[in-house]
Amino acid sequence: GLPDRVTIYEVGPRDGLQNEAAIVDVAVKAEFVHRLAEAGLTTIETTSFVHPKWVPQLADAAELLTALDLPSTVRAPVLVPNERGLDRALEAGVREIAIFASATETFAKKNLNSTLDDQFTMFAPTIRRALDAGLAVRGYVSMCYGDPWEGDVDLDQVVRVGARLAELGCHELSLGDTIGVATPGQVIDLIGALGQAGVGTEVLAVHFHDTYGQALANTLTALREGVTTVDSSAGGLGGCPYAESATGNLATEDLVWQLDGLGIETGVDLAKLVATSVWMAEQLGKPSASRVVQALAG
Ligand code: HMG
Ligand code: MG
Repeated sequence: GLPDRVTIYEVGPRDGLQNEAAIVDVAVKAEFVHRLAEAGLTTIETTSFVHPKWVPQLADAAELLTALDLPSTVRAPVLVPNERGLDRALEAGVREIAIFASATETFAKKNLNSTLDDQFTMFAPTIRRALDAGLAVRGYVSMCYGDPWEGDVDLDQVVRVGARLAELGCHELSLGDTIGVATPGQVIDLIGALGQAGVGTEVLAVHFHDTYGQALANTLTALREGVTTVDSSAGGLGGCPYAESATGNLATEDLVWQLDGLGIETGVDLAKLVATSVWMAEQLGKPSASRVVQALAG
């Protein structure tokens, strides 16, 4: 069966913008977040407290949070890799963070300057201190279905990384198809294997990039398997600067079109969302990658 309601976890301001080379003005970022909230999105990942040299686009994280004025019903998590990032996030008054683990050795090196094992040495005290401070902590697992350097990724290795994050206290696990190569059979296999390891669908979210055009099919598959939280990016913005061949995330508009058609509630006003992505595309000087944005705004 399918759920009656899906929680959309919007990543456009973070995953979307982190890949844009030209620095976007902080006022434009703030307007983007406000418009997303106005369109009915209730969970918006706004920025990252990573090393500013690694992701210059999001070096203005603290400034952006100061510029935001969101209703208390909107959750605004931020990406945090380590204790230094947590300190900065706490200083900015953040209530929710997301840490991001790699399921592969190569991506742990490229994205975190760490190893598959050592990443947990960085995450454990970060998560513990965040929980002690009363924050909610999401955990991402990247490269769940394929890695541009290593190729196929061992299912057991993905499950081990996910289970470890859950054990460290993450309330939600987001399964990242960082380079958008997954197909639906893999999604069924991973969700099944996590279930066997004691990580049920109630704590899972899915995070698909749309490089090979599989994101919507993979999402529908995950919903059928019992997942009810889906990550997406307004206008299909995005990619990961440290993952070769990664393109944008599943577009939020494409997701909402499908869920609306299925009678699944999201609380999102599609017309307002499309208008937001059209406006953002103008700011970035290039058309939106979302098929639904193209169809409705064309
Ligand atoms: P490092 O160079 O190994 O850091 O980078 P370090 O611990 O050796 O520290 C070096 C210096 O950096 C020190 O300063 C630290 O204080 C400073 P110094 O003492 O030399 O003056 N530093 C920091 N400064 C500000 N904020 C911080 C921070 N940490 C250390 N947080 C590090 C290690 C993890 C910091 C680095 O690799 C990094 O920032 N990586 C982030 C990469 C990134 O943001 N990637 C994109 C997001 S992941 C993604 O997109 C995937 C996802 O969407 C899911 C999916 O699609 O699969 C989530
Ligand atoms: Mg991503």
